[in-house]
Amino acid sequence: MLLKRSLIICGAFLIVAWIVILIYYHLGRPPNQGELYSQAAPGQKAGGGRFGNIVNEVMRVANEFEAELESQKKILLQIQSRRSLWEDNKEGVSAAKPKSQAEHSAPVVIPILVIACNRVTVKRCLDKLIEHRPSAELYPIIVSQDCGHKETAGVIASYGSQLTHIKQPVLSDISVPSQHKKFQGYYKVSRHYRWALNQVFNTFSYSSVVVVEDDLEVASDFFEYFRALHPILNSDPTLWCVSAWNDNGREGYVDPGIASLLYRTDFFPGLGWMLTKDLWAELEPKWPASFWDDWMRLPDQRKDRSCIRPEISRTLTFGRKGVSLGQFYDKYLRFIKLNTEYVAFTKTDLSYLDKKKYDENFEKQVYDAPAVTVEELQSGKLSGPGPFRVQYSSPDSFKTLARNLGVMDDLKSGVPRAGYRGVVSFLLCGKRIYLAPPAGWTQYDPSWS
Ligand code: UD1
Ligand code: MN
Repeated sequence: MLLKRSLIICGAFLIVAWIVILIYYHLGRPPNQGELYSQAAPGQKAGGGRFGNIVNEVMRVANEFEAELESQKKILLQIQSRRSLWEDNKEGVSAAKPKSQAEHSAPVVIPILVIACNRVTVKRCLDKLIEHRPSAELYPIIVSQDCGHKETAGVIASYGSQLTHIKQPVLSDISVPSQHKKFQGYYKVSRHYRWALNQVFNTFSYSSVVVVEDDLEVASDFFEYFRALHPILNSDPTLWCVSAWNDNGREGYVDPGIASLLYRTDFFPGLGWMLTKDLWAELEPKWPASFWDDWMRLPDQRKDRSCIRPEISRTLTFGRKGVSLGQFYDKYLRFIKLNTEYVAFTKTDLSYLDKKKYDENFEKQVYDAPAVTVEELQSGKLSGPGPFRVQYSSPDSFKTLARNLGVMDDLKSGVPRAGYRGVVSFLLCGKRIYLAPPAGWTQYDPSWS
């Protein structure tokens, strides 16, 4: 590095010396007649006295000087471009600088990682991704295939250069505790995720990624959504993911009039989500052997961080038959509504998502809303669009109320699905409802499950 620096200094010194010599040489040289004529301005007599000669000579030297400077500038620019190459290759730390500077000028590349296995229906997922993808350069698709299923491999390969097809190399069964035999699938999914994310971040060296499973269909503004949230995820340490999914996003439970509305949530939604390389570096060393998504929902991983999620999902799941055998699918998942109205998120003011602002507003909206009972809500006697607040005070009351109201009733480490600060926000018969803990909430109780 020292050698390189001194080479650059030497080069710069030689250039300056060369310019100085040029000036001396031209000033000391007697004027050449031909040159004087050719340089004479129109209307000015050629050889019009000694003063005219001096003016012409100065102009000529100035012109040559300018041309010389121009060519030196080109050389310096070339040196500079090479220099960034040396530094990118050899110095991990300083290489980060030009990259983040580049982020301000050139748009960042956000790869999409598709997790596939043995379902040929991955075609539906890939067709929609490609249909809505605004640019193949800005959103390279990497399909990582597990399971070694030939037909599925054929479907993926048929997309040619529109995507990159990689294959998880270890297909053997995983030895699991005997009572977990039926969960072998969850172990394989976890192994695949670890390998695929290592590929994205360590082999392909991307700085963030959007993970999509092979049974997800994306909405038209899926890419626009993640691009707009990318700088927010990168700069806000209270966030650790951006998800396209609303766990309570069923038809009738979301407001189609506010397709642009986004929320913070303490419940990791997955199902089309973006993470950064830094988060992966934190999680990878302790990545679990199975049930990776529920593991993400434990306090040790979440560390009080939230995700951004939309009012209306930007992904839809069509995978009824999966490792979890469709238990949730028929009851909830298949009813989750996919957004249809394109929102230009990158041109939308998203500053309301800033934690301080968001929390103040959120607390006010939720706790200024009048507390009502489920019976009052169901009687239809409450007038106006709300919002109304329904209070719970224990895991049992949460579950009972959630079931009565029709929202997801599970708690993971005390966090309700789609919840933020314990509050679940949804629509019921056109009214905004907050299923909320008592005012003054400070933290989750992880024993609530
Ligand atoms: C559920 C979750 C899913 C999560 C998984 C693991 C929902 C709707 N889905 O899976 O987000 O990742 O639990 O906890 O909540 N796969 C492999 N190798 C295999 C089997 C599957 O890579 O051996 C891939 C599939 O291609 C798919 C993903 O793993 O992309 C999830 O598999 P799926 O069969 O869809 O299971 P779910 O029950 O939806
Ligand atoms: Mn699935």
